[in-house]
Amino acid sequence: MTDAAQAHRSAPALARTPEELACLRRSLEGRVALVPTMGALHGGHRALMAAAREQADTIVASVFVNPLQFGPGEDYESYPRDLDTDMRVCAEEGAALVFAPSVEDVYPGEQIVRIDPGDMGRVLEGEFRPGFFGGVLTVVNKLFNLVQPDVAVFGQKDAQQLALVRRMVRDLNMAVDIAAAPTMRDSDNLASSSRNAYLSPAERRSALSLSRALLAGADASVTGPVGILSAARAVLDEAAAGEPPVTVDYLALVDANTFAEVPNDFRGEAVLLVAARVGRTRLIDNVPLSL
Ligand code: PAF
Repeated sequence: MTDAAQAHRSAPALARTPEELACLRRSLEGRVALVPTMGALHGGHRALMAAAREQADTIVASVFVNPLQFGPGEDYESYPRDLDTDMRVCAEEGAALVFAPSVEDVYPGEQIVRIDPGDMGRVLEGEFRPGFFGGVLTVVNKLFNLVQPDVAVFGQKDAQQLALVRRMVRDLNMAVDIAAAPTMRDSDNLASSSRNAYLSPAERRSALSLSRALLAGADASVTGPVGILSAARAVLDEAAAGEPPVTVDYLALVDANTFAEVPNDFRGEAVLLVAARVGRTRLIDNVPLSL
């Protein structure tokens, strides 16, 4: 960590409005990293802030549960919100500033102009959560404009989101570097997520089949795409018949750059992705593979 980040370990400033942010932003020193979050900070967010410390002198974290990326019937209302705990985590991770605006401040009127994620945003997560990536890219674009970071850090856990943010920055010539932080896992190998808090102990045991399936796929990587998918599928089929059952939304092996499913003779960087529901909780996980 640089001296500037160290100096802020104890007391991040809090900006509740774009005006307060603009005022505080002027006093931030050196290269500034943004860590965008929806709060309920956990080990995965700590890993994002650790990556931010590697990238910059000063860390700004945003805490905003973005209504635009939740569909009807999703958990927008019940999404965990605890700014006091988030402020403590940000302090421990050396953030200088936390931007935690209200919905009215971010969306003062109807949001007519939005970012279209294109076809890459309509497959996989985009197919199961229509409008999700349009909502994500629109708020990320706003956060970039408001915070004006030199670099922004996103987690590999949300691999499709990371790829789409990179693509937006490239396609719209945005002057911000994008850095990735590896997926954080709990000791039982479940990928860290704010939504893990919804799982009962029995659901959590079933949910471990996601990381087991990815591991089985990765272990079969020399056999090529068909072998990888069938090894992962075997684990998920067993979990689908278990109690409580795991209901798979998708299992896919995609090109890491385009998110198109790979042909069997594919060579290059790929991602094996899974999304599934256990009880009322929807979980995603992935593993990058070099084929
Ligand atoms: O990954 C998330 O937590 C959100 O999608 C993000 C990037 C903060 C945008 O709301």
